[in-house]
Amino acid sequence: MKLEIILHPDMRLKKKCMPVLNISDDLRSLAKNMLETMYAAPGIGLAAPQVGHLSRLIVLDCVKPGDRSPQPVIMFNPEIISKSDELNTYEEGCLSLPEQFAEIKRPAQVEVSWIDENGNDQEQEFNGLWATCLQHEIDHLDGTLFIDYLTLLKRKMITRKMQKFKRELARGENAS
Ligand code: NI
Repeated sequence: MKLEIILHPDMRLKKKCMPVLNISDDLRSLAKNMLETMYAAPGIGLAAPQVGHLSRLIVLDCVKPGDRSPQPVIMFNPEIISKSDELNTYEEGCLSLPEQFAEIKRPAQVEVSWIDENGNDQEQEFNGLWATCLQHEIDHLDGTLFIDYLTLLKRKMITRKMQKFKRELARGENAS
């Protein structure tokens, strides 16, 4: 089932999410629905607060479509346990900020721990696009958006564009 993605600005995107204590069937099916929503968007990552659930849950798949078979990853309580001094710059976007992009510098490698959908502890090192995407998604769980790394001026400009976009969207929905 495809879920509705919350668009910035919205208070739910600014909240710190709660750790998951028990991987219930409800949470597992939420994760599956988040993956379906992410692939349909299309996007490479999605965090639970973006669909209105303030739990520490993210899903991602940074395999380029057509390159290899999909590699969906579900992470409960993901945590960055170490990051490299070396940095990497990617042009980032976000499903909560459609058509907004900015170059963001982040650690090039991260070591991440998480609990998988079967309740098992996992730990792995990531680099390249996976490392950037993971940091972006884990940021969502603490109410941080990629635009929070930009200057106040740029952030305000993007927020104004998004407010306009949301107004137009609401008008379109009322008209139909
Ligand atoms: Ni995002």
